[in-house]
Amino acid sequence: MQAPLGIQNEKRFPVALCPLPDKLPVMKGIILAGGAGSRLFPLTLVASKQLQPVYDKPMVYYPLTTLIEGGIREFCLISTPQDLPRFWQLLRDGSQWGLSIEYREQARPEGIAQAFRIADTFIGQDAVTLILGDNVFYGGDSFQRAFADFQTGAVIFGYHVHDPERYGVVEFDAEGKAISIEEKPKQPKSNYAVPGLYIYDNDVVGIARDLNPSARGELEITDVNVEYLRRGGLRVYRLGRGFAWLDAGTSSSLHEASAYVQTIEKRQGIKIGCPEEAAFRQGFLQLPQLEELASRMPQCEYRAYLEREVIAEAKRAV
Ligand code: DAU
Repeated sequence: MQAPLGIQNEKRFPVALCPLPDKLPVMKGIILAGGAGSRLFPLTLVASKQLQPVYDKPMVYYPLTTLIEGGIREFCLISTPQDLPRFWQLLRDGSQWGLSIEYREQARPEGIAQAFRIADTFIGQDAVTLILGDNVFYGGDSFQRAFADFQTGAVIFGYHVHDPERYGVVEFDAEGKAISIEEKPKQPKSNYAVPGLYIYDNDVVGIARDLNPSARGELEITDVNVEYLRRGGLRVYRLGRGFAWLDAGTSSSLHEASAYVQTIEKRQGIKIGCPEEAAFRQGFLQLPQLEELASRMPQCEYRAYLEREVIAEAKRAV
């Protein structure tokens, strides 16, 4: 996507980047950040749901950081035509963080699995992780291990919730093997909901292309997972008790997610969902580049965190 009119001439961070390796990483990342955001009206009149603040950062920083922590460096962000310029203003082409970020339009919210049709040329021959732009995760290394171990098929996750009927629900047999997945079932067969982070091999492109819309007129992500299950290629990892999956889709859950992030950040003196820090820890940015980035930020708590915690700690370690 081209820079929208009016922002081409803005000063960019002149950061020297770690070169992308010759052989690019085979796992690509899609952030799906469209939808009407109707449950957050009137907040969403001026900025989409995924741009709303979760405590001290825009919501999209959290899923972006989750994928950076998984080693993903190439991204495609999908959103509505009216919101894409705002995402561009925030994230640019990603090069300031040692990433590449492309943008694609979803004209209408016709289903999560439509992302694979929209981004097929971005995915190319590679594997891909899709993350929903309103899913905030914290804790543990389950995702990182899943990325590191991934070879083929599909990997999704199961998370125990009290209201599974609101989600995709996975049923396990006595050995813990997934045996069914249903989208928003009236009578859920378990309490395990499927969070919005899905890892697929390249077959997902063909599977999404062949999908038919569901009764509610959407290309369902659950139908993609059911197809992998039918082929014997689906693994479902259960996320443990120490793991937080926060909902940020309504005004009160957005407020609760902010309170959760604030509690952890204040108590531990760390930040959740900080792409600069994650990119630095992944080696996508070197220390001088991170220092340069921080020095160009206004004086604020975010800059102070990078300087006093991340940069100072890295300097002590050398
Ligand atoms: O959050 C996890 C759940 O997400 C899964 O357990 C379900 O299986 C999955 O269908 C989905 O359920 P939701 O009811 O939460 O989906 P929703 O329509 O609210 O969309 C989730 C996010 O994706 C939301 O931020 C908007 C965005 N989206 C959604 C659709 C359908 C798009 O950007 N484009 C779309 O076409």
